[in-house]
Amino acid sequence: MKVTVVGAGAVGATCADNIARAALAQELVILDIKEGLAEGKAQDMMQTAALLGFDTKISGSTNDYSKTANSDVVVITSGIPRKPGMTREDLIGTNAGIVKGVAENILKYSPNAIIIVISNPMDTMTYLALKSTGLPKHRIIGMGGTLDSARFKYQLSQHLDCSPADLNAVVVGGHGDTTMIPLIRHATWNSAPVTNFLTKEQQDKIVADTMVGGATLTKLIGTSAWYAPGAAGAALVKSILRDEKKLFTCCVSLEGEYGQSDICLGVPVVIGKNGWEKILDFKLNETEQAAFNHSADAVRNMNEVLKTL
Ligand code: LAC
Repeated sequence: MKVTVVGAGAVGATCADNIARAALAQELVILDIKEGLAEGKAQDMMQTAALLGFDTKISGSTNDYSKTANSDVVVITSGIPRKPGMTREDLIGTNAGIVKGVAENILKYSPNAIIIVISNPMDTMTYLALKSTGLPKHRIIGMGGTLDSARFKYQLSQHLDCSPADLNAVVVGGHGDTTMIPLIRHATWNSAPVTNFLTKEQQDKIVADTMVGGATLTKLIGTSAWYAPGAAGAALVKSILRDEKKLFTCCVSLEGEYGQSDICLGVPVVIGKNGWEKILDFKLNETEQAAFNHSADAVRNMNEVLKTL
């Protein structure tokens, strides 16, 4: 199996590092436009092979897409990250052109690849990748909800004093500070509803802190986060390459599911060798559905901006 990660910045490099450590692929290519950056990071990672014991062959490429040929999965992290005070949506003007170009170049050499989009604003970049490539919808997956759900589990675990791995919790909707919807009513601690163990105030705080999870880190670090975003991308790659059929929240093309169409938005999906394989209906209640519709409106407005670029 062969994987390409486009973008050797912090998120791309961390994603590649996780893919290498888990020995998911025989070949891993990291591509970046900055001369030497991908080659350098690839070499640095290769030098961990003797220490960590993986045998993936990692190489770097400065914008030469022929090196990415015949990739099974491609992760797109290209574009600028946000700075403190910026929203993910502020990045659209710069990142739309970059993501469109990357997706076209990738498909020239890997026409059968499954594409995972991490670049922000992620919901709109996923929609752009879908529309500009014309690929079958199952092969375009936006990563956002996978990360937001991991952050939701982190917040829950802090209040419950439990292992995040014992929690089932999903965030649906958009990957924006005001558009994501942590579904606390559906969250469980090994099958027991977490709401059994949390006061209303705690629940509200967990939801609010999850929604600004990325912004909180951007403020602390001075740029956007990379460990969890990179790990989230790698978890999706793993579920595809090993056909795990794990359930993740991903941004996918909706055609009536959750009451929405002509939009890519975060919903629970099964991820396997065909990309996203099916959407699960979590049967949202009225309040949750209203929040989902509100999120869809905001993402749709952002998608409209694409037409003006
Ligand atoms: C974040 C960016 C990657 O949420 O969207 O950290």
